Amino acid sequence: MKKILLIENHLHLYKRENSKIWQIKLKLPNKKALRISSKSSILEDAKQIAIQKYDLINLKISNNKDIKIKKKHPIKTTHLINSKKLSKKEIEYLIKESYKYIKFNKQKIKKNKILEGRTIFNLFFEDSTRTRTSFEVAAKRLGADLINVALKDSSINKGETLLDTITTINSMDPDVLIVRHPEEGISEKISKLVKSCVINAGDGSREHPTQALLDALTIKKKFGSFKNLRIAICGDIMHSRVARSNIEILSKLGSNINIIGPKEWIPNDIKNLEVNIYNNMKEGLKGCDIVMMLRIQKERIVEKIMPNEKKYFNQFGLDYKKLAYAKKNAFVMHPGPMNRGVEIESKLADDITRSLIQEQVAMGVAIRMACLEILISNKDIYGT
Ligand code: NCD
Repeated sequence: MKKILLIENHLHLYKRENSKIWQIKLKLPNKKALRISSKSSILEDAKQIAIQKYDLINLKISNNKDIKIKKKHPIKTTHLINSKKLSKKEIEYLIKESYKYIKFNKQKIKKNKILEGRTIFNLFFEDSTRTRTSFEVAAKRLGADLINVALKDSSINKGETLLDTITTINSMDPDVLIVRHPEEGISEKISKLVKSCVINAGDGSREHPTQALLDALTIKKKFGSFKNLRIAICGDIMHSRVARSNIEILSKLGSNINIIGPKEWIPNDIKNLEVNIYNNMKEGLKGCDIVMMLRIQKERIVEKIMPNEKKYFNQFGLDYKKLAYAKKNAFVMHPGPMNRGVEIESKLADDITRSLIQEQVAMGVAIRMACLEILISNKDIYGT
């Protein structure tokens, strides 16, 4: 076996018999040795990669006395695209890891160096304020550089294809791409093309995993457990990625889900899941601990007639009177943006004794910090 010493007792390169690729063995004091492939057969390249990995891991450890990065955890992926692919264990781990950031975000100085020197791109091909800024705050609090690509003003308008845009950004060696796009499945396609981690920040009507994770964190913080909870998800289920991701995640965690909405907005694929379906708020809200309201996704309702807003509010909009059909101390949630007076009564949305909407925003930053930290640390260990 060929062996090259780089830092005495800490870092060396070796080649296994029958292999051209240099392997890295990295050992920090009081830590278990890590063995990582340099993925290169060229010694000079392998040396550089080894030093980079060593510096990074060393930096993380020395910069984060309060926040410790655990190497061994149940999450092995470098992308967060699909809630279906997250196991109960992985979801619980992400929620658990977010608690340290809830505390951190209450500090006067909210700045860490965990992701210093890392480059994160927000690639939003659809409007967003909450999710985009939430990722930006999360990345910056961890010390990363975040670049917002204004896609409306980008070369997309000059005829550059999406693929070209992604290839161009990929050449800048980003660590994470956060993608929001109206086309379903686009984040998955992008993850197969790039070297970075990819987070799906909403693809069409399909998935929005970090929203569902932040909702789960909000619920966990309020109720302590998911078992025996009954959660109503109400409104435009058909076009809602938030509904789909929440059904996946909250039912995996052990909650019962009631789906409530107009018949024409209950899609067939949801009927096969473990949910109870209602077309009436009074029946559907019975026994619920949480009432999650959704916006009518006007931008996805093409060529179909929009319901009359007043009529819709009377039937499906949440006000104090309808909330009384749920459990006595039931809480209200909404991913935002809200259409006040359409799916939710304005006063109720702002009533902090009943509404968790602002808490959801705060939890969004914490869960996204945990997601960024874990995905990037996986990328360092396993590569993408
Ligand atoms: C949701 C989204 O964009 O999917 N909002 C969000 O992420 N905060 C819900 C919505 O747009 O209605």
